[in-house]
Amino acid sequence: MEKYVVYGGNRLKGQVAVSGAKNSALAIIVAAALADEECLLKNVPSEVDVYTIAEILRDLGVKVEFHGNTMRVDGSCIRSYQAPYELVRKMRASFYTAGLLLARLGKAEVPLPGGCSLGSRPVDFHIKGFQALGADIHIEHGLMKAEATRLTGTKIYINRSSVGTTINLMIASSLAQGTTILENAAKEPEIVDLASFLNSMGAKIKGAGTNVIKIEGVKRLRGTEYSIIPDRIEAGTLMIAAAITGGDVVITDMVPEHVRSAVLNLQEAGVQIEESLSEIRVYAPERPRAVDVETAPYPGFPTDLQQPFVSLMSIAQGTSIIRENIFDRFRYVDELRRMGADIKVEHGTAIVRGVPKLTGAPVETTDLRAGAALVLASLAAEGVTEITGIEHIDRGYEALDKKLNSLGANIKRVQAD
Ligand code: EPZ
Repeated sequence: MEKYVVYGGNRLKGQVAVSGAKNSALAIIVAAALADEECLLKNVPSEVDVYTIAEILRDLGVKVEFHGNTMRVDGSCIRSYQAPYELVRKMRASFYTAGLLLARLGKAEVPLPGGCSLGSRPVDFHIKGFQALGADIHIEHGLMKAEATRLTGTKIYINRSSVGTTINLMIASSLAQGTTILENAAKEPEIVDLASFLNSMGAKIKGAGTNVIKIEGVKRLRGTEYSIIPDRIEAGTLMIAAAITGGDVVITDMVPEHVRSAVLNLQEAGVQIEESLSEIRVYAPERPRAVDVETAPYPGFPTDLQQPFVSLMSIAQGTSIIRENIFDRFRYVDELRRMGADIKVEHGTAIVRGVPKLTGAPVETTDLRAGAALVLASLAAEGVTEITGIEHIDRGYEALDKKLNSLGANIKRVQAD
């Protein structure tokens, strides 16, 4: 196991490029196996969650080769309908294989994803959608067992905005008999990316990015070549890293529109932001002003930036109220308090009284974005911070320490005791 040792206090300066979007890549890699030919995927981030989904697909008989940021996926020989428990329980997005297996083999046995540090994360909407498409579903021994000779298109209303449900049902219905209408669909950029990818394979999908998506089932999907969109959550995390250190950073290879809410809230906090087509310059004051934020489905403020933003607000001038509406994800606040933050959490809301300075301390990462929040806090803290549990960070950020060090941070990756 490794840990970060961070010497805080350096202002970040310079330029850094954003990697491909983890949450788009995980969906597109699974969807690529819908084709009976090879797909070539570019700008695939080199992250642990991507290695995991590739392993799961190989276990199902899909050929997957991953070199650098290019991945070849060939679903022509997919043969097993049983997703491997040991691998699936590591990562919730593996549940997308249920949609793939039902579409390709008419049968799926996929372990139900466990809870994680974000609280309970059921897949009841996914299951309801599969049943609406005609699948017979049994839940036993922690497995979802599903069967359908061929899925049949239908109209499905998703109870609340759900990225995973929208993705899983787009994957399942692309090869269904007839047309599927997803109502109250999620509108995240990753959904639009998946629809563009599927259409490049010959799927017939309209309306992605709105809350009504129409999928006309086709008989087969062909191989394609596709480049994944930039990771808006990594882009937002790097913007907040610049802000928390009072730095001056240009973030490139990203889509400013995808981080609109973060831009507006950072500007309200007194951070100067200049935008061009594919990059953003963040020029930050010594201390930000306190800003109230509420997380919401896209295009609202993303729940995955809530933790990094609370780190920023912990050194702001004034008190900010941060309301988390998507998940239960404030466990990291205990760790920020060890660094001197003054935060109270009640009923899904953090009341953050800004302090002039944080101080370095030994802290523990509980999940991916909590890890990012602790790294950002350590950059601004006086003294040394030791961050354990960094395997969580490796799941969804490509070389975060190297990128921050290239901007002047001082992060060492060492063996944990
Ligand atoms: C995706 O998770 C992302 N993960 C999350 O990013 C992101 O925070 C989330 O969307 C934002 O909504 C991936 O894309 C791999 P949801 P997902 O379905 O699909 C409830 C990260 O750090 N719900 O949109 O699991 C659910 O409990 C991760 O990159 C049900 O009740 O999220 C939540 O309260 C963290 N039943 C809400 O809907 C269901 O069947 C939104 O969840 C499905 C979801």
